[in-house]
Amino acid sequence: MLKREFQEIYGKINLLMKKALENSAHPYRTFSLASLDKEMPKLRTVVLREFSFENFFLDCHSDIRSPKVIEFKKNNKFSALFYSSEEKIQLRFNGKVEIFHNNSITKKRWKFITPSSRRCYMGPFSPSDHLEEYHSNIPENVKFENPSKKESDKGYENFVVIRCHFDELDYLKLKYSGHLRCKLIFENKNINGVWLAP
Ligand SMILES: Cc1cc2nc3c(=O)[nH]c(=O)nc-3n(C[C@H](O)[C@H](O)[C@H](O)COP(=O)(O)O)c2cc1C
Repeated sequence: MLKREFQEIYGKINLLMKKALENSAHPYRTFSLASLDKEMPKLRTVVLREFSFENFFLDCHSDIRSPKVIEFKKNNKFSALFYSSEEKIQLRFNGKVEIFHNNSITKKRWKFITPSSRRCYMGPFSPSDHLEEYHSNIPENVKFENPSKKESDKGYENFVVIRCHFDELDYLKLKYSGHLRCKLIFENKNINGVWLAP
């Protein structure tokens, strides 16, 4: 049971993440996701696609051929960073990634991906491939029009859900009267909180 003093913070984060899922302009709609490429940290921006405080995870979508997926398969540790200058709240989640490919979760998610977005998974090249010359990595026949359902289903083969199971959340709220910082720890369905020096 989360101590009362942390419940307000938990509620606030839950609300902000829900808003981010509903509103594509929300500052938490995108976040920086870090993996480890051998010994080297690597960051990239991704879009928040799902968030669950009940089951301690957040999701983004990607292409199975992308370096990040290959990196996470070798080392599944992640860090995810959100910041809202409006709220002056930074969130840093840490934990382990699970990659879903061609299963019931990806099938369900694929149904809600628009034809235009499906084109991103239909590229002839693996994301981050070195190219001899510029290429948009969108097949020529769908560059200026949406693919048919049958055409876009080719993209499904490359589509993955990256599920970030978090076990820690570092919360920082900037305030003139003194910043507020705490860590929420997620373990065996329980959440504990501890104050941190800002
Ligand atoms: C605003 C924004 C949102 C993005 N969202 C995603 C995303 O949800 N999934 C993704 O794989 N790449 C996304 N990208 C591209 C990644 O940041 C990155 O350039 C690409 O995925 C290659 O990353 P990698 O080489 O580390 O695998 C986004 C980029 C921007 C600028």
